[in-house]
Amino acid sequence: EELRRESLLIVSAFAAKFFHETMLDTDEGQSIGLSYFKERGFTAETIKKFELGYSPDQWEAFTGAAIRNGYKEQFLVESGLSVKRDNGALFDRYRGRVMFPIHNFTGRVIGFGGRTLKKDKNVAKYVNSPESEIYHKSNVLYGLYFAKKAIREQDNCYLVEGYADVLSVHQAGVENVVASSGTSLTTEQIKLISRFTKNITILYDGDAAGIKASLRGLDMILEEGLNVKVVLFPDGHDPDSFVQSKGSSAFKKHIEENKKDFILYKTQILLKEVGNDPIKKADVIREVVESIAKIPDSIKASVFIKECSGLLQIDERALMSELGKMRTAKA
Ligand code: CTP
Ligand code: MN
Ligand code: MN
Ligand code: MN
Ligand code: MN
Repeated sequence: EELRRESLLIVSAFAAKFFHETMLDTDEGQSIGLSYFKERGFTAETIKKFELGYSPDQWEAFTGAAIRNGYKEQFLVESGLSVKRDNGALFDRYRGRVMFPIHNFTGRVIGFGGRTLKKDKNVAKYVNSPESEIYHKSNVLYGLYFAKKAIREQDNCYLVEGYADVLSVHQAGVENVVASSGTSLTTEQIKLISRFTKNITILYDGDAAGIKASLRGLDMILEEGLNVKVVLFPDGHDPDSFVQSKGSSAFKKHIEENKKDFILYKTQILLKEVGNDPIKKADVIREVVESIAKIPDSIKASVFIKECSGLLQIDERALMSELGKMRTAKA
């Protein structure tokens, strides 16, 4: 079992090296992969640090190299790097894509995200590693290995959606950044962050999906006793596009000027939809108090009650009594 895990880790490390070297040392890699990353503003240092790569646009380039180097078919298939045809032959899962190796928090490669370079809407934008003995999507935070020291030092973790967001934000000197890689946050991911800090600042895409995603799953972070802040980006921007187009200091300034405590943010978003409808407003009040009830620290909770009573224009004591009811119901 341990041996199998180790074999998968070793073949993944080989693959990362293969994709990285293919990008730096071959004509196809340089003219397609490397120039793509450069055009997106990634420096040679970032490319090296995160071991970015390119998978040749062929059916068996990687699989062939791996077999020649003595890697067993079993591990190529289990890692998801190769796919088995009905006739038993293997082909490469990643073809003609730029490659983002995913490291665990000790720095070993456990999986990959491969981005297409085609604009074609019928092609999956990202192909990711399947679940395996070493890759459990719900336990992984992209970039954590490169961020953990800064997360401890800053006592805060920035959470973004995507690979490119991590790279650009890190490159801009904000190194305490990790990505949930598009999925909604899991309890395991939150526990992983809480080993390093109790403060999370969410930087999600400024599109409707990003805003929705930022409301989802967050009550769960509150339950773990973490402090959550949210920063929205202008519509059409994600942290990557913002920092690449406006620069590092404008990015930092945007965060400082726009970060909001999650509860207050949620209250404001929900309130926007209420209008003059008292029933909707009652629902919003309940939902907000429900979130506050998840906060284990009762002093912190009462501070939020005070602030929300202002936003919701409802008596603080009424909210407190609602909170009390919910807490009793939970206990
Ligand atoms: N994602 C995925 N599969 C998709 C789309 C997205 O796994 N088909 C994940 C990726 O981890 C991606 C993240 O969700 O990085 C955020 O998605 P999106 O905002 O669409 O992509 P970006 O990271 O912004 O990618 P890019 O800037 O390269 O367009
Ligand atoms: Mn396992
Ligand atoms: Mn998005
Ligand atoms: Mn993007
Ligand atoms: Mn994005």
